[in-house]
Parts: sequence; structure tokens; C-alpha cells
Amino acid sequence: MRKKVIAGNWKMNNDISGSAELISGIINNIDFSRVNSDVIVCPPFTSLETASELVKNTPIKVGAQNMFFEDKGAFTGEISAAMLLSAGCDYVILGHSERRAIFNESNEWINKKIHKALSSGLKPIFCVGETLEERESGVMKDVLKKQITEGLTGVTSNQMEEVIVAYEPVWAIGTGKTASPEQAEEVHKFIRDLITKMYNKDVADNLVIQYGGSVKPNNAAELLSQPNIDGALIGGAALKADSFIDIIYSAEL
Ligand code: PGA
Repeated sequence: MRKKVIAGNWKMNNDISGSAELISGIINNIDFSRVNSDVIVCPPFTSLETASELVKNTPIKVGAQNMFFEDKGAFTGEISAAMLLSAGCDYVILGHSERRAIFNESNEWINKKIHKALSSGLKPIFCVGETLEERESGVMKDVLKKQITEGLTGVTSNQMEEVIVAYEPVWAIGTGKTASPEQAEEVHKFIRDLITKMYNKDVADNLVIQYGGSVKPNNAAELLSQPNIDGALIGGAALKADSFIDIIYSAEL
């Protein structure tokens, strides 16, 4: 049985005090005895250290939203894997569609970042997903296959134990349009079959594949009950403690 993983991607929201308030709201209101999933919060870089301090005696883990693949040097504005580790991170989101679309990140760059994360001891949450245009023109599976094969080039079966894949259809992110449970399940099954071909059944069976894109308290349970949906990557609904907690509880239904 795969363990479910529920992660909040805060994006560019919350300064240090706002982050502390949100994390305290989660910690003070959640009943951890009801939770079997792994729970991760991914605040902006500036709040990572504060977040790590606050979750220290709880099961919640901290992730970053991006990093660069070089170790150090003249890369103005960038953050290294070692810096994230020193701020208390266990996870890092890589290849989010906003990074791909707004900041021109290529599959090749994302691949380099995945390798750097893995060799540094950070677990990548590797995001893939098609645009509406790609889905409607029938190239969705080709796009996903390219993102996944190029993103995971050179990643070994052993390293795959540390990787989470997040399927996030771009048309569902921040739009209120969720993929239906059937649409999402179909793609998750496609991804798992692809991983079986690239690696083997063991690797595929153990891989956590999260769904992301307008996950809310009122649709989470149905999505999370699909056989190949192993968790959620949540944007908007992770910015309020009560809705984030509701989604975490939905994974237990
Ligand atoms: P959303 O964002 O839940 O606000 O759609 C999800 C994401 O981009 O990770």
C-alpha cells in the first residue's frame, strides 16, 4: 500500500509572520491521530526556516518550491540544495507549470535539478501536466511522456524511491476547474504504466503520484479515493488552515 502524501504549495504567498500564523493554525487545529498521510508545507524561501522551526515536534515536513542545480557561485537570485537543507527542507517542488511557463524552465533543466536534489538528500516533487490546448489537440500523452522521460533521464530505480510525481493539468491550476476523478485517474494510470515500462512494476507500484489543480475540501475525497491517486498538491486551498486540514482528513476516508 502506498502512503498518501498531501502537500501545500503556497506559491508567492505569506511573509514570515503570515507563514508562522498559517502553520500555527494547522498545528493547533489538526488531530494528528486521524492522519496517516505524510503532510508537507511548501512556503516561500524566506519562510522556510521559520516553518521548519514551527513543525519540528510534529509529523509535518517542509518543502521548497524550487531550487537551482549548481552548488554555489555567480547565480544571482538562485538558491542551492544545500541552502534548502540548512533551512530544514526535506522536499523540493521541481518543474511546476508556473516555473515552466513563466520562467522558461526546460525538461533538461528540471532533470538537472532532480539529480541535484536526489544527490543532496532532498526528495523531489516532480510536476508534470498538459495545457488545455495540448489536451484538446490530442497530444496530452505525448507531452506527458516527454516531460517524464526527459525529466527522469538517468534517475535510477533506487533513486525513484525518493521521487514523488505530481500530475497537474495546467488548465486546472488556480482556475477552479478540477479534472474529474475519472480524467485524473486515467492520466495517473497512464503515468504508472509509463513508469513500469521505464523501470519495472515494483518502482511503479511504489511511486506516489499526486494530483494537483483546484483540489478543494469538496472534491478531495473523490479524487483521493481513485486507485492511482496517492495524494494531492494543493495551491489555493492550502492557504487556509481549515481547508488544508479538511483535505488532509479527506485522504483518510
Ligand atoms: P491550485 O494550485 O490548487 O490553486 O489549483 C495547485 C498547484 O499549482 O500546485
